[in-house]
Amino acid sequence: MADNTLIPVAAEFAAEAHIDAAAYERLYQWSLDDPEGFWREQAKAIDWIRPPTRIKETSFAPDDVHIRWFADGTLNASVNCLDRHLATKADKPAILWEGDDPGESRTVTWRELHDKVNRLANALKALGVGKGDFVTVYLPVIPEVLVAMLACIRIGAVHSVVFSGFSSEALAGRVADCRAKVLITADEGHRGGRRLPLKRQADAALESIAHKVDHVVVVRRSGAPVPFTPGRDQWYEEITEAADPVCPPVEMSAEDPLFILYTSGSTGKPKGLVHTTGGYLVHVATSWKNIFDYKDGEVHWCTADVGWVTAHSYKIYGPVLNGATIVMFEGVPTWPDTSRWWSIIEKLKVNIFYTAPTAIRALMRDGEAPVRKHDLSSLRVLGSVGEPINPDAWLWYHRVIGGGRCPIVDNYWQTETGAVMLVPLPGATPLKPGAAAKPYFGIRPVLFDAAGQAVTGAGTGNLCFADSWPAQARTILRDHQRFVQTYFAPYPGHFFSGDGAKRDEDGYYWIAGRVDDVINVSGHRLGTVELESAIGSHPAVAESAVVGFPHEIKGQGVFAYVTLKAEFAETDLLRQEIVAWVRKSIGPIATPDVIQWAHALPKNRAGKILRRILTKIAANDFENFGDVTTLAEPEVVGDIVERRRQAIGRR
Ligand code: PRX
Repeated sequence: MADNTLIPVAAEFAAEAHIDAAAYERLYQWSLDDPEGFWREQAKAIDWIRPPTRIKETSFAPDDVHIRWFADGTLNASVNCLDRHLATKADKPAILWEGDDPGESRTVTWRELHDKVNRLANALKALGVGKGDFVTVYLPVIPEVLVAMLACIRIGAVHSVVFSGFSSEALAGRVADCRAKVLITADEGHRGGRRLPLKRQADAALESIAHKVDHVVVVRRSGAPVPFTPGRDQWYEEITEAADPVCPPVEMSAEDPLFILYTSGSTGKPKGLVHTTGGYLVHVATSWKNIFDYKDGEVHWCTADVGWVTAHSYKIYGPVLNGATIVMFEGVPTWPDTSRWWSIIEKLKVNIFYTAPTAIRALMRDGEAPVRKHDLSSLRVLGSVGEPINPDAWLWYHRVIGGGRCPIVDNYWQTETGAVMLVPLPGATPLKPGAAAKPYFGIRPVLFDAAGQAVTGAGTGNLCFADSWPAQARTILRDHQRFVQTYFAPYPGHFFSGDGAKRDEDGYYWIAGRVDDVINVSGHRLGTVELESAIGSHPAVAESAVVGFPHEIKGQGVFAYVTLKAEFAETDLLRQEIVAWVRKSIGPIATPDVIQWAHALPKNRAGKILRRILTKIAANDFENFGDVTTLAEPEVVGDIVERRRQAIGRR
């Protein structure tokens, strides 16, 4: 085990860092003793129109959960992301974009970005979008996605970015839920040498729902002919060219929504988490600078797709608020070959590189040769996020990518938390491979044991956070009750993360993974109920149960137990059909890794499926099922175990 490995902070690194060990202790203590004073100071990182005098107003009473930060402050987010950098950086690069095809690249300066954002903001206004309206953005990783986000926030519209790898069905639910006024998409996306039919998928999504968007704005990415509905559809290039290049920013209250982002939960319906303006910007701007120890002029590359919170906070908002140059890469790490990422780091002289453990594990399989072809000496800080990183992958990342000299900041947080919760600050915290380490400023982790008692000292439990922090999500769109029930009912007065964790003797936190009905596949959250309803809608399926199982590359894989209707036969062809069905209804990230037929599923007498047993069987653990006396039909388990044993034996 690498548990005991402690990698000290290099003295030279600490000497130049924004936060060294002494500063961490001092600031952390201040943030606990005097949260208002601490965050009032942090709020100076943002340009306010009217600076806030009210700092924190929160209640976690069961009948009145509300979270407000900087409530009387006013500001415009796009001014903070753009206008304030123009005086010093107008002609410096804001975005270094690399296309899927290695021959394609673009540089967008701050001045150009400002111009594009202003034009699109005016064009959106002309299409009827105003303060408080929702705009769904279904775009690949191209500069226009950032333009779209910043154009929305310039005019007070709320963006909802949907991962372009999601299917039309998944998109449809997300457009309908927020009742988007406009959808922004592209003709096609480019990915790994293939084309994604985004406009067609968007059309299919819009046809399938009762809610009607007023307009669809289409970016020409590939130039392929796509269906076009006159009146409703608008070419991005045409409307932005015609638009005025100056759009006055709208003054927003700190608690006005900035964006929503959907994430899977333990019911079938994705949750639209609402993030507001002032608190989110303050927390994200300051934490991004601290966790990556950003120095002016550095190049930052977060590999996450724009559809996830990682990208919202630490690919886009954090760096852009700090005036950093960001890399955007449209493609995949394995195309045209497995040295693609490393070639981009060399070409663009990337200083901060931030990715997910699943990618490291996948690239590790190819050995060191693809890395050795490139000069990665520009790298200074590495990041990891999205799932626990196993010590083997951590050590490889540190040695082979970071040349043994770059600290790895393994940062733990969530769509709901908006910004980092646990992290080793690179100039302050000695590293332990696999640990998300210590709480960020203002964060108060609490572990609750099985008896519901708070654990003191070393121990394990369900990870919760006491009190509040500025980037915390405020509610679930149109479902505040669900927000309260999901996050604050399990441990009253605390936010429940849904993760299990360990705190060691040194006060370091180690994330064990989800303890609810959510699985984390390649760093992406998928609700088992959502997967089951996708599988269950196939005409041959009577019933299904989905669990996660340990997967060498993905961290967790999707394991589905499926019971067919009597008239259908258990064939490999049907298996493939169900896999394709799930990909179509959610997207390729939800692809089941294993489908095992089951005559019946293990249930208790109340008809509840006993997932605990199914999870063990999926992990090839055929014993220790715990209490099985509650099973309605105990023989069902024997049958499932037997089939699993046969399946492994066959392989
Ligand atoms: O299970 C935890 C895992 O990812 C979940 C949050 O997923 P999402 O909202 O999509 O946000 C992902 C990135 C911010 C958490 O509940 N997770 C995230 N970061 C880590 C992690 N697990 C272990 N270590 C991490 N650093």
